[in-house]
Amino acid sequence: MKLFSRTLATAGLAALAGLGAISVAAQAQAQAQDYPTRAITMIVPFAAGGPTDVIARIVTGHMAQTLGQSIIIENVVGAGGTTATTRAARAANDGYTLITGHMGTHAASVPLYPKLAYHPEKDFEPVALLAGTPILILARKDFAPKDLKEFITYVKANTAKLNAAHAGIGSVSHVSCELLNSVLDIKPTGVPFNGTGPAMNALVGGQVDYMCDQIVNAVPQINGGTIKSYAIATPERNPSLPDLPTTAEAGLPAFQAQAWNAIFAPKGTSPAIVAKLNAAAVKALDDENVRKRLLELGSVIPKPAERTPEALAALVKSEIAKWTPVLKQASN
Ligand code: MLT
Repeated sequence: MKLFSRTLATAGLAALAGLGAISVAAQAQAQAQDYPTRAITMIVPFAAGGPTDVIARIVTGHMAQTLGQSIIIENVVGAGGTTATTRAARAANDGYTLITGHMGTHAASVPLYPKLAYHPEKDFEPVALLAGTPILILARKDFAPKDLKEFITYVKANTAKLNAAHAGIGSVSHVSCELLNSVLDIKPTGVPFNGTGPAMNALVGGQVDYMCDQIVNAVPQINGGTIKSYAIATPERNPSLPDLPTTAEAGLPAFQAQAWNAIFAPKGTSPAIVAKLNAAAVKALDDENVRKRLLELGSVIPKPAERTPEALAALVKSEIAKWTPVLKQASN
């Protein structure tokens, strides 16, 4: 009799456990179904007005309409974007805290910070790629070199007195100019800012000499004649700056650099919520007004196949693999 009652009890507990598991899954499903029921926080790891902030605001402005809730941008600065990214990695995985990361925070920082408090692949759920951002070589308006060939001669001859602006170790502006400086074998003084928004202000003000920055931060200044631009580090010219030569055309084919900005959620965010966020991001990228604003700033809008969470996961993996040897070589 005892054996029977023990078996019955075990079966009963198993059934209860099974019911428990079903109710947890059902609860998650119900949460996802209603999501979002309140405002969402989008962390931007750099100062307002920079490329990541501008891209995040353009795209989330449309996503908020689709999702029916506000998306509040929170600029959290420091340490080349890794301060904010660490915070995002530790946030609740309920879909209400997201981050717009990029090639720096979610790839190049891995080899640059041996004690990085997160790993882009292990601590985040990829949501959606937002924009490719070609890198430009920029200088203050009164910088002597007239073209890239003169720039190369000048910076090689004057490297000791040059100030190169960037947005902190591991930022896109930092790592892309690390690559440029390595190709040219120069070691200028790096001047860090909380983002390339403030760095651009310093460049326009003539307080720094040059910078490698994402195109979306430079188009208004170039069109306004407030800075110098020497080349774009992609194989093709960009329609927003048709007169700007590629680095290959201008005599420096070895310098190729393109960044990207993307939305990530903390690891463990439910697949249903990730799918809802991805759908809203994809819808934004197909919106005429969003596309117009991104394209006029020189963004490269992801093709449909590049917009899935799986495609973003593959991009992060390949970019970590790409930048690790590049940055190790640059630091030698
Ligand atoms: C920014 O938005 O300020 C940039 O993405 C920073 C950087 O990575 O250069």
